[in-house]
Amino acid sequence: MSKNAIFTLLAILYLLMNIVASQNSSSDEYALLAFKSQITFDPNNVLTKNWSQGTSFCNWIGITCGTRHQRVRGLNLADMGIEATIAKEIGELSFLRSLIISNNSFHGFIPAEIGNLSQLREIEMQDNELNGPIPASLGFLENLQTLNISYNGLTGNIPNRIFNLSSLIEISFVNNSLSGSLPMDICYNLPKLQKLRVSGNQLSGNIPPSLGTCRNLELLSLSYNQFSGRIPMEIGNLSKLQILYLGGNNLTGNIPNEIRNLSALAYLGVERNDLSGNIPTEIGNLSALAYLALSHNGFSGM
Ligand SMILES: *[C@@H]1O[C@H](CO)[C@@H](O)[C@H](O)[C@H]1NC(C)=O
Ligand SMILES: *[C@@H]1O[C@H](CO)[C@@H](O)[C@H](O)[C@H]1NC(C)=O
Ligand SMILES: *[C@@H]1O[C@H](CO)[C@@H](O)[C@H](O)[C@H]1NC(C)=O
Ligand SMILES: *[C@@H]1O[C@H](CO)[C@@H](O)[C@H](O)[C@H]1NC(C)=O
Ligand SMILES: *[C@@H]1O[C@H](CO)[C@@H](O)[C@H](O)[C@H]1NC(C)=O
Ligand SMILES: *[C@@H]1O[C@H](CO)[C@@H](O)[C@H](O)[C@H]1NC(C)=O
Ligand SMILES: *[C@@H]1O[C@H](CO)[C@@H](O)[C@H](O)[C@H]1NC(C)=O
Ligand SMILES: *[C@@H]1O[C@H](CO)[C@@H](O)[C@H](O)[C@H]1NC(C)=O
Ligand SMILES: *[C@@H]1O[C@H](CO)[C@@H](O)[C@H](O)[C@H]1NC(C)=O
Ligand SMILES: *[C@@H]1O[C@H](CO)[C@@H](O)[C@H](O)[C@H]1NC(C)=O
Ligand SMILES: *[C@@H]1O[C@H](CO)[C@@H](O)[C@H](O)[C@H]1NC(C)=O
Repeated sequence: MSKNAIFTLLAILYLLMNIVASQNSSSDEYALLAFKSQITFDPNNVLTKNWSQGTSFCNWIGITCGTRHQRVRGLNLADMGIEATIAKEIGELSFLRSLIISNNSFHGFIPAEIGNLSQLREIEMQDNELNGPIPASLGFLENLQTLNISYNGLTGNIPNRIFNLSSLIEISFVNNSLSGSLPMDICYNLPKLQKLRVSGNQLSGNIPPSLGTCRNLELLSLSYNQFSGRIPMEIGNLSKLQILYLGGNNLTGNIPNEIRNLSALAYLGVERNDLSGNIPTEIGNLSALAYLALSHNGFSGM
């Protein structure tokens, strides 16, 4: 085959792909209108006025479309004071990469259909009133980088499969009512994870030593749960760790000496536990340390 023939073939293929992609843009409009239909309060009438049929949904407020074809890439409705449940039809926005509905009054369950959005990179649903469980289907979002569902009323266990999504950079589940424990192999497949925040829940069990394999972790916040057992010495392997919050749990034993290896550590909180023994002198050598909370424990010595 000549070079020209190959180019022509590629061009036809590209065209065909775009046709297939744009074919179902009407299903995107259908999904967005289903989403709109579940809004019960929209204080500034942003969506009720702007999301109107007859105008291209790519121009609707909060919507971003791909450049090559008219499919919804981004849905950003943060800070709008919207009251609604999340329509399950959202699972039909099959090109969606970014779903941001933070700081509104979304309530009810997170639809399992979100697990069908295989392109999704970013979920930000923090600061709402969502309840029910975290759908296990989120564990199928292989491209997910950010998952923030902090400050809601979610219950039940964290589906283990979520900790197997190797693209994840940030996980934030702060201030919900989640229970159960963290899987012992939590970090076997999270090479990119930088932030893990699960404070303010009812999580229990031991702190998994395998957290030491999340090499890029900068922020680890497990505070105000019911974690018990010792602080694993493997935490000392986290050379990029800047923030370590373990306060308000039922941790026992001493602070491991391996803490000396955390040269980037700026915040260390272990207050309100049942820790004992000496405070490692090496803490005094952590030159980046700006905040240290040790109160309400059983430490002894100097
Ligand atoms: C297009 O959308 C319709 C309605 O949502 C659906 O039934 C159909 O399977 C979709 N087709 C493709 C090719 O995705
Ligand atoms: C919706 O808002 C966008 C951006 O502000 C604007 O360009 C568009 O004309 C509006 N559409 C309607 C129907 O109000
Ligand atoms: C949340 O949204 C409201 C508007 O509904 C806004 O006034 C407030 O500043 C937002 N809060 C944050 C933390 O952005
Ligand atoms: C979408 O997700 C739901 C619930 O997880 C599932 O039952 C359904 O089969 C999925 N649909 C598609 C088209 O993948
Ligand atoms: C985790 O992911 C790996 C590879 O991506 C896969 O082989 C394994 O089955 C997954 N484990 C679970 C519990 O999902
Ligand atoms: C998640 O949302 C909370 C609450 O708005 C915010 O403070 C935090 O910075 C966000 N990201 C992470 C990684 O926690
Ligand atoms: C977090 O949860 C605690 C306990 O349930 C509550 O007292 C606190 O006000 C919550 N913080 C925020 C910012 O919602
Ligand atoms: C983590 O630290 C422990 C002891 O502090 C050490 O034995 C182990 O080899 C380290 N693991 C990795 C993967 O570096
Ligand atoms: C911790 O630091 C000591 C020196 O203080 C070093 O010998 C050791 O290899 C370090 N361990 C890890 C896991 O980085
Ligand atoms: C954890 O500590 C709290 C308060 O000190 C106590 O009420 C609770 O029973 C403890 N839980 C466990 C599992 O030890
Ligand atoms: C801690 O710093 C002191 C000097 O301030 C030094 O003599 C000592 O060797 C250091 N210890 C470690 C474990 O780095």
